[in-house]
Amino acid sequence: MKAGQVFVSHTSDMAVFPQGRSSVQAALDAVARAGMAPVEMRYFAAWDGQPADYCRQRVGGCEIYVAVVGFRYGSMVPGETVSFTELEFKAASAAGLPRLVFLLDETVDLPPDLTDAEPAAVEGFRQRLREAGLIVRTFTSDAGLELEVFHALAALPRTASGDPAGGPGAGHFGESRHSGTFTQISQPPQSTPLAVRYSLPPDTAGFTGRDEELRLIAAAVTDAGEADGAVAIHVIGGMPGVGKSALAVHIAHQLQGRFPDRQLFIDLHAHTPGQDPMPPKTALAGLLAAVGVDARYLPKGLEGRTDLWRDRMAGQRALLVLDNAASSAHVAPLLPASDSCLVLVTSRRHLGDLPGAVPIPLDVLPPDQAQAMFLRLAPRAATAPALAVAELVQLAGDTCRWRSRCLPGCTPGTLPGPWPTSPARQERAC
Ligand SMILES: Nc1ncnc2c1ncn2[C@@H]1O[C@H](COP(=O)(O)OP(=O)(O)OP(=O)(O)O)[C@@H](O)[C@H]1O
Ligand SMILES: [Mg+2]
Repeated sequence: MKAGQVFVSHTSDMAVFPQGRSSVQAALDAVARAGMAPVEMRYFAAWDGQPADYCRQRVGGCEIYVAVVGFRYGSMVPGETVSFTELEFKAASAAGLPRLVFLLDETVDLPPDLTDAEPAAVEGFRQRLREAGLIVRTFTSDAGLELEVFHALAALPRTASGDPAGGPGAGHFGESRHSGTFTQISQPPQSTPLAVRYSLPPDTAGFTGRDEELRLIAAAVTDAGEADGAVAIHVIGGMPGVGKSALAVHIAHQLQGRFPDRQLFIDLHAHTPGQDPMPPKTALAGLLAAVGVDARYLPKGLEGRTDLWRDRMAGQRALLVLDNAASSAHVAPLLPASDSCLVLVTSRRHLGDLPGAVPIPLDVLPPDQAQAMFLRLAPRAATAPALAVAELVQLAGDTCRWRSRCLPGCTPGTLPGPWPTSPARQERAC
């Protein structure tokens, strides 16, 4: 047996899907990156003898078995009742190899010609893999698969002849072969930073009003998954200081029980004085770190990071607040693709061209709510004449509206309401 040989078994659809870099290629890349030698039946010349025996021999000559399984069962072994892919799995089980199984997630849209018209056989195989008590992961993209395979390999225990510090290297994996200790790969590898599950800032104390907006978003969450399978995105827009971030965070706190897997907040700094807006690539680096991706293995390009992010968020009941977005292009790469996620974006600009987004435009609070908020913040004003309080609050709203004309990032669309008519108010507002 050669040390560090990994048998990569796969169904035929995975050799051509996705287009560009296939899932099989991604798994082979991960094996190579882990410093091991991939072994795959595809690379062998036609075998004149018994193909099933040869297959068993090749699998048994390796130290680790990796399966990448999609939705085709594949060609049957002559004279047997199983496909070659399942035969390889049986051979790995019989040889006592650590078996790492990666199933294409059911939410991924495969072209019809890559799936079995009669799915019973492949479904049965997938079920047997799930029930075999192995480490099974699902994946939705080649980048996600590569990372999963790499981490699974990196986490396997090795003997003293391996290289414990510098990644898996070409170490010997014999210890885990018969002991079943490969269950350790369910724990994150040592190099993976701790993931962040909840990063919402605290809710605003004494949050006031916004009942209609809260009702709208809560109703959309109730309907989630019943629409067209798209991720729920709400864009809270309005002038500076009107309460966009406070509303997004308040809603996030109210709905957090619906999104138990993860609640993340990221400030994209579109309008932070003295600071450039955070580029989507940088934001993705932070988000991927939050879901446990080691910075050393981040894809370099924006597209690869977006793919990996969507892969990691697939099926997660997660809530994401993207605060202070500059434009639709700023947030589009950060959107998960899973309809189990809720995304709340805040922006001073109108993001009308963000596909599938529901706009939630905010104006200043209505007078009664604004006065209630003011009195909560300044309780001693409760003894002042009611008219004076009303005028003060009205003036604050006017000031907020009209000062926003002077701030960068504001467009006429963010200036609801007329210019104050009273000359005294105009003077004070400016
Ligand atoms: N509904 C509310 N109830 C109580 N306080 C609020 C409410 N809305 C906003 N505030 C408070 O008003 C201040 C400004 O709100 P916020 O920061 O949310 O504005 P914003 O629209 O996000 O501004 P910017 O465009 O500068 O990001 C904050 O101190 C916030 O806590
Ligand atoms: Mg804000």
